[in-house]
Parts: sequence; C-alpha cells; structure tokens
Amino acid sequence: MSADRKDDHIRLAAGQQDDPVRRRGYDDVEIIHHALAGIDRDRVDLSVAVGPWTFPAPFYINGMTGGTDTALAINRALAAAAARTGIPMASGSVGIALDHPEAASSFTVIRDENPTGLVFANIGAGRSVDDAKRAVDLLSADGLQLHLNSVQETVMPEGSREFSSWLGLIEDIVAGLDVPVIVKEVGFGLSAATLGRLRDAGVRIADVAGSGGTDFAKIENDRRGGGHDDYSYLNGYGSSAVQCLLDARTEDFVGPDSAPDFTVLASGGVRHPFDVVKALALGARAVGVAGTFLKVALDEGPDGMVTALETWQARLGEMMAMLGAQTPGALEHTDLLIRGESGEFARLRGLD
Ligand code: FNR
Repeated sequence: MSADRKDDHIRLAAGQQDDPVRRRGYDDVEIIHHALAGIDRDRVDLSVAVGPWTFPAPFYINGMTGGTDTALAINRALAAAAARTGIPMASGSVGIALDHPEAASSFTVIRDENPTGLVFANIGAGRSVDDAKRAVDLLSADGLQLHLNSVQETVMPEGSREFSSWLGLIEDIVAGLDVPVIVKEVGFGLSAATLGRLRDAGVRIADVAGSGGTDFAKIENDRRGGGHDDYSYLNGYGSSAVQCLLDARTEDFVGPDSAPDFTVLASGGVRHPFDVVKALALGARAVGVAGTFLKVALDEGPDGMVTALETWQARLGEMMAMLGAQTPGALEHTDLLIRGESGEFARLRGLD
C-alpha cells in the first residue's frame, strides 16, 4: 500500500510539472532593471552559508522519494548528479524504510552514490526522536529535513488526523539530534506565525515550501478517484513561496524576538534559475527544487541531471553579474515590484 502510494506520487507529480494553468507566485515578481548595475562574471561567488554548511550554489535538490524500485532509480540519478556537482540533496521521507527495512536500499543508494556530499534525510512530523535518529543514521546524513504535511494527510485516505503533538516533538528532535534540523512544508507554505513558533521551539532553519508547484492536495485527490469522497476544493490551497517570503518580513516573524541566526529557505514552484534569483531577492538564503528536477531525472537520467545542475549554476552566475550581485545574499538589494495576487497579499499583510 505504502509503496504503491510512493509510485503514485512520482507519476502524478511528474504529470503536474507541465500544467500551464497553475498560479505561479514568481510571475508576480518583477525586477526593475538597472542597465548600469552589472559587474564582471568572474567576481561572482555563488556559494552560500546555510547553518553549518557551505552550499556551492544557492539551490538544492529537495526531498522527494524512496521506497520502490522506481524511487531507487530516481534517487540514484539525483544522487549521482549531486555527487558530480556538489549540489546538496535531500531524500524522500525515510518513514517507509523505518517501518519496512526491505525498503532501505532505495534510500541508502543516495549515500552510496554520494559518499562525501551534503545529504539530508527526511521524515514526517509526528515521529519520535528515536525515529529521527534512525533516519539520520540510515543515510549518515548531514542534517534532517522534518516535513509538515497536515493538508496532504487530510486529503490522503490513509492519512493521519492528529497533529497536536507535532510542535512538541519538533522541539524534542531539535534538542535530541546532533545534526541540524530543517523544518519544511511539502507545498502549502509556512506562514510568518509558523516560522515564529518554530523559532521559539529551537528550530534555526526552515524551508517555506509553498504552493504553485507540486500540489499534494491534487495528487491525493487524483489517487482518490473523484465522487463524493473527493476534496478537490482543496486543490491549489496554500501560500506560495513568494507570499511566504513576503510574510516572513512582517512583525509576525521579524521583531524584537527574531533570531538573527535563523535561515529561511524557499521551495515550491521553482521552474528555472530566474525563479531562484527572485526567491533570493525576496530574502531566501537558498532555494529547493523538487518537481522540476524529478522530470529531468525521469526523462534524462543522471547525465541530464548533471547538465541541468551545471547549467543552473552557470545561468545563476550570469544573471547575478547582470544584476550586480557579487554574492547570492547581495540579490536582496534588487529593486522589485510585486504585482497581482502576491502584491495584494503584501498589501493585506501591511507591507506597502
Ligand atoms: C515531494 N515532496 C516531499 N517533501 C518531503 O518533505 N518529504 C517527502 O517525502 C516528499 N515527497 C515528495 C515526492 C515527490 C514525487 C515530489 C515531487 C515532492 C515535496 C517537495 O520536497 C517540495 O516541498 C514540494 O514538491 C514543492 O516543491 P516543487 O515540487 O514545486 O519544486
């Protein structure tokens, strides 16, 4: 059952990536072009500090899969490309391998292919400190992604409906692990208020993982097959990464209590390196990519993934030179106009 679900996720998520009608927050973000702002490409340094790590470029392969033969092949392709480029990579939720040890090889292939690179294990909120440790150990992981997915669980027929223990367990896991924890959504976004609660629980790195890209409400609805049993009115639910990054500038997160060492990452709906530029300009330290790279891994295998990761790095460097940003962090000085739904969101949240 669980393994079938993982293959359904891969198939349905891959099918969503070409959908032209979906809302994309990044299309609301316009850069005011300054024709004399440019610098020389060889002055640009793409590397960024995230927690204790240095990423060679401000993006990473986000948590996706594991648990089946198809997932193993995808993880092998992604991990081989991560090893050849140095780009960090997260696994899909390791929960299935903790419950069914025969599924472990579809995850451990990530470390086998990439013995020295940055690898993050992934597990769902609601798991114990012991499970979190086992997830990290399985991959000899450098960090743990802990995902919050109450919307997905709600729409998923076999999903949990019990969420009240999550924050306390997150606090225990952050205190109990000897590697950093990255808390993330799975495509519905983290609000400023949620970021604040995570910060108060001791979390120091969070990925807002907003809507507009892979839609797990739609994936689980498609698995249900329609009729009265369906929750299709939740398709498209959530806040985009653009909205979340704007929200993170409000007093619900930034204020006297704000932790200067808190790192906000962004994912959800990133199609190409220009979306990465926009997320960095909105304040993300680095950007996660799932669905777009899933398609590349499926269609083009490890060599296609290497080409994609190298091309993304090259294009990012060129656009940073064009915009006059010597480092990814310098993109925060980019002049932006926020239009459309994202602009209305910013106004309603008092960010004029
Ligand atoms: C995911 N995602 C995900 N996230 C997570 O924390 N644990 C998981 O096991 C999975 N599984 C998963 C499977 C597949 C096939 C996809 C495409 C995605 C969510 C992912 O990390 C990310 O938050 C969202 O997909 C939004 O980013 P994109 O896809 O719009 O770039």
